[in-house]
Amino acid sequence: MNTILIGLQWGDEGKGKVIDVLSRDVHCVVRYQGGNNAGHTVVVNGASFVFHLLPSGVLHPGKICVIGNGVVVDPQVLLAELDVLKKKGIEVRDRLRVSEQAHVIFPYHKILDGLRERKRSNKIGTTGRGIGPCYSDKAARCGIRMGDLLNSRMLREKLLDNLNEKNEIFKKVFRHPGFSFEALFDEYLSYGRKLKGSVCDTAALLNERIDKGESILFEGAQGTFLDIDFGTYPFVTSSNAVSAGACTGTGVAPTKIDRVVGVVKAYTTRVGEGPFVTEFPKSLDEEIRCKGQEFGATTGRPRRCGWFDAVMVRRAVMINGVDSLAMMKLDVLDQMKTIKVCVAYKYKGKVFRTFPNDLDAMQKARPVFEVFSGWQKNTEAIRSYKDLPQEAKDYIRVIEDLCRAPVNLVSVGSSREATLSKP
Ligand code: IMP
Repeated sequence: MNTILIGLQWGDEGKGKVIDVLSRDVHCVVRYQGGNNAGHTVVVNGASFVFHLLPSGVLHPGKICVIGNGVVVDPQVLLAELDVLKKKGIEVRDRLRVSEQAHVIFPYHKILDGLRERKRSNKIGTTGRGIGPCYSDKAARCGIRMGDLLNSRMLREKLLDNLNEKNEIFKKVFRHPGFSFEALFDEYLSYGRKLKGSVCDTAALLNERIDKGESILFEGAQGTFLDIDFGTYPFVTSSNAVSAGACTGTGVAPTKIDRVVGVVKAYTTRVGEGPFVTEFPKSLDEEIRCKGQEFGATTGRPRRCGWFDAVMVRRAVMINGVDSLAMMKLDVLDQMKTIKVCVAYKYKGKVFRTFPNDLDAMQKARPVFEVFSGWQKNTEAIRSYKDLPQEAKDYIRVIEDLCRAPVNLVSVGSSREATLSKP
């Protein structure tokens, strides 16, 4: 069974936990887009692990962990993540494979991320990890790939070309001194030496394993509304976070995919700038942020919080071809007297039931809410779906109907045990 797991909101839906649960039943876990802008949190026996680049399935011994061609890799971050796990007694090296076609993040990408953001009037609120500039180079055909780090002649040629152009831009446009070739060349060649044993043709590897009958879990990062094509552009990341990205980002064909699982939070959050139709008023925003510990796993920034937006999620179900939903953090709503769900938008006096692609409409639309009774009971200790309060089950049913997809999994806490299968 080959499964794609994706976020249906603006990221941070709690994918790390679902990936960890689903990883038990697969042979390989694969990241296919994004980079270390992601932050997937997994809690095991009270210990919390945050993964930025390594697939979250890595905590299951024996699973092959793949970083596909669609990912942008900061080798320094990857090595640091491997080191942290090694110190905790988790050895990953032997089962890590990194695509030779994955593009590499260099310091000039990270600096440029910040410099560009500073010049923009419409700030995106990037994570500053160099993601956008690295994907820009990929599209501009001047990127440097993981395989190039293993070939000093190729690396020299490509890096020289890059610095020739980039140093001039840094100096003339941004008044930045630019980068020295020798220092960067030596540093990245040494990353290549350290990662040599893991870099390979991961498309061939994954397809061979599928042919042998092994199962793959494709681990999406960010979320549908941060997707470069289908997100709230330009307030998006630079990769295809939707399910289709799993195919281009790994070299596994769509005909090999068996199911798509979409992850939603029981409410909505967003980090960074951009439209957010159902955003809470200030006092509720702070209350839910505090209860849900809504702070970015990568940058620590406070997440903006709001009510569940069924207009968004219904579109995400369509775009991703979602078969089933996993609903996370239901327990955060435990004490609410009433709970609102956005069922439509109002813009220029008209009511819309579909998500607009026009930025002005996204920014000015007002939510049309339906209001439901809260359950006002603690759910954190519940271990079986049937024991959830009736109001919580009703809330889940409403979301299934509005979003046109069944909920198969409900999470009521951060531990692996607080995961309820819905019959
Ligand atoms: P970038 O991906 O660093 O370029 O950031 C672009 C936008 O995506 C910003 O609003 C970030 O806050 C947001 N973003 C990127 N990665 C994540 C993530 O993993 N979770 C939530 N938001 C993210």
